[in-house]
Amino acid sequence: MNIAAHPVVEADQTVYLKDYQKPTFSVESIQLDIRVFAEQTLVTATLKMQRQTPGDLVLLGRDLELKSISINGKQLSESEYKLDAEQLSISNAPDEAVVETEVVIHPETNTQLEGLYLAGGDLFVTQNEPEGFRKITFYPDRPDVLSVFTTRVEADKKYPVLLANGNLIEAGEAGEGRHYTIWEDPTKKPSYLFACVIGDLAVLKDRYTTSEGRDVALEIYAEEKDIPKCHIAMEALKHSMRWDEEHYGRPYDLDNYMIVATSQFNMGAMENKGLNIFNTSCVLADEEYTTDAAIMRVQSVIAHEYFHNWTGNRITCRDWFQLCLKEGLTVFRDQSFSEDLQSAAVQRIDDVAVLKAHQFPEDAGPLSHPPRPDHFVEINNFYTATVYEKGAEINRMMATLLGKEKFRKGTDEYFKRHDGQAVTVEDWVAALTAGSGVDLSEFLLWYNQPGTPKLEAKGEYDTENQTYRLHLKQSLKTHPKYPDLKALPVPVALALFNAQTGEQETLHSTAIVENNVKDGVYLFDQPEVTIEFTGVTAKPVASLLRNFSAPVNLEFNYSDEELAFLLQYETNGFNQWQATQTLLERILLNGHDAQIYLNAIQQTLPAVIAKDPLLASRLFDVPAEGYLGSRIDQNYNPAVVNEAREALLNQLAQNLGDFVKETYLSLQPEEQKEFSQAMGVRALKNIMLSLMARQGDAEVFDLAYQQYQQTGNMSERLGALKVLVWNDAAQAKEALQDFYTRFKDEALSLDQWFMIQAAHPKATAETVQYLTSHADYDLSTPNRIRSVSGGLNVNPVNTWSFGVQHFIQLAKYLDEKNPIVGSRLLQVLSRWYTLAEPQRSEVKTALEALKPQVKSKNVSETLNSMLSI
Ligand code: ARG
Ligand code: ZN
Repeated sequence: MNIAAHPVVEADQTVYLKDYQKPTFSVESIQLDIRVFAEQTLVTATLKMQRQTPGDLVLLGRDLELKSISINGKQLSESEYKLDAEQLSISNAPDEAVVETEVVIHPETNTQLEGLYLAGGDLFVTQNEPEGFRKITFYPDRPDVLSVFTTRVEADKKYPVLLANGNLIEAGEAGEGRHYTIWEDPTKKPSYLFACVIGDLAVLKDRYTTSEGRDVALEIYAEEKDIPKCHIAMEALKHSMRWDEEHYGRPYDLDNYMIVATSQFNMGAMENKGLNIFNTSCVLADEEYTTDAAIMRVQSVIAHEYFHNWTGNRITCRDWFQLCLKEGLTVFRDQSFSEDLQSAAVQRIDDVAVLKAHQFPEDAGPLSHPPRPDHFVEINNFYTATVYEKGAEINRMMATLLGKEKFRKGTDEYFKRHDGQAVTVEDWVAALTAGSGVDLSEFLLWYNQPGTPKLEAKGEYDTENQTYRLHLKQSLKTHPKYPDLKALPVPVALALFNAQTGEQETLHSTAIVENNVKDGVYLFDQPEVTIEFTGVTAKPVASLLRNFSAPVNLEFNYSDEELAFLLQYETNGFNQWQATQTLLERILLNGHDAQIYLNAIQQTLPAVIAKDPLLASRLFDVPAEGYLGSRIDQNYNPAVVNEAREALLNQLAQNLGDFVKETYLSLQPEEQKEFSQAMGVRALKNIMLSLMARQGDAEVFDLAYQQYQQTGNMSERLGALKVLVWNDAAQAKEALQDFYTRFKDEALSLDQWFMIQAAHPKATAETVQYLTSHADYDLSTPNRIRSVSGGLNVNPVNTWSFGVQHFIQLAKYLDEKNPIVGSRLLQVLSRWYTLAEPQRSEVKTALEALKPQVKSKNVSETLNSMLSI
């Protein structure tokens, strides 16, 4: 990597953590008046400001048309302030200043989906994190300025719903067919948590009583036809509220909690105080219209945004470099919540799979950054897998080390110390340390260093002395911007199994946190170490990083037989899965013989299927081509990986023989009482169906078509449709047409129709052309763009051929229309430099040609970083 030689961005656009300064003025209160008209919106803001430090009074504002400004009742003339594209500044402002501004904004033409925007026909919503509020009014738009908000919203009565944060204190007529509401939010909050909604929506209502006896009105707003799809979200909300009381002692603090669903949203959802705004994809959940995976996601995102009320809202970030303070902790909390909804092992498997598929590659390439970055050009580019997922892992490591009780003492201390404040990652670790009585300060290294550590392990059994020695070594790839990387604290959870009996051994070692235990945790914080286990009577098989106790790349000198042993005997479901994945990676990337795997899976699976169908379905996982590609650092040829994977899947199908069809015919998802069990049975059924297709079973497409037609469940329907479409079955066309007719008015279901076609292994540039010029394709709806782009990217062979132009053209178009999404989609190409020639040079040339054509900070910063390797 050679970042130093190519300045990544112009120096004056980069913001540095080290330059942080306290705000010059605080805002004691703000009164906002938002009047929406067809062709413009008028915003008046009255800020009661108080000087904190010497300096200019600076208000940030972007794309605002300033009509007037006054201080303490006196209008300012143009010579009395300085105004540029980013800010308005006043020198010599009085120490106590009531600043009133009037601006005009244009939500009706705002395509960036940031600030206040028209989200399709009858709905205006806001997205202000991180820096959208400055597109609504002039304000010190930074998270460490907290204020009490009062909001008046006024619009035509064709928008019956007028919402803002807090309590509704007044509503009434505004003349000329218009009406208004006034909302008061009693708790101080940063501007990024401000929200308002103006629209024509239906509502699902419920109530919840907190542990403190507060009666909370719960409301989910969505389109009328979607209200029946809001019940799962409502249940998840109540469940989250209870869960946070029970696990963290955090009750809710307002009398209402509102959620609004919109189909046009850049991300998943947003935790605005008391008024969450959600992508429909993260609220609407219904067997008939959305998949099992989507239903799980809805529940975890509902919990995520709810949990932010304490980790994010009550205690917020001092500056945006601290983003992982709220996101990492909140993701860790939502993952723990979800572990209670389905098999905990499967939840962990799914979370680690996401980490390995997205965060590890990100951290190994040109976009690598520490969970707490120390500089950025566009903060929107840092809502990354590293900030969210690796951030969550750091918290999990500390929680693992502390154990439940001490971790709770630590979090209690954090809430006690910092409620109502805007704080840093240091504050969090210090509070955990003080509360638990365990010094965790070395974990700060994880927040400040980039890269995935490599953990090399070697085991050695000494028969004579009955001891087992484990050598551990950690290392980090050198990074040009972070020259002195230090050894990190790595909690290594481990177990030893008796190779003869398959039994788990008791651990005898002074190195383990608790002695004489079966599940031990060793805190490894040196570059290298050897630990010794005594009283080991037979050669053991060690299982390391159980439950993935640290986000590292483990290289253990297991034999393939030992991995197959763990596949059969490991009792930690996560490590059972991990052993399978490691074995498969060796087969697929290093040419190891597949037979050991095939034998082990044949022996193990029938029992697991009977006991835990959901876990069984994951044990069939064969690493995706994209993930396998991310494990190759040079001369990557997507076609070679594709061939190896196809060959293995065919071999697996042949090897399993009649078992596949027999299992398919015996599985009855309808008979399962629990959702998570039914989900497992459905997943298995779909796996069996696709394996039958690989066996060339003459009947398979009839069975698939039957499954497609007879089910009322989206996961089953899609599973069957995929088998038909991806194998070009005779029934494929008819089924696709049928799917379209059934779901053409259901945006989330129709997304799947686009996705399946884009993900056809033999898709071509024409396929993409057909889909993107379809009447239902819509470049102003990120979900629809992602359905085609995400589908296409299921097959790296396609991504890296005709897909390159697809992503480049999209980035170019979105650079202007929606740079947040444009920048994200471009990142799909970030591993271009690993490709074999001539592809490598071709993609590089295409990326370089894009450079002079893009203007947004978002896309430019990403492109510059991508090319700086
Ligand atoms: N804080 C939101 C969440 O829960 C994400 C908002 C991201 N928005 C953005 N424009 N990058 O996770
Ligand atoms: Zn979040």
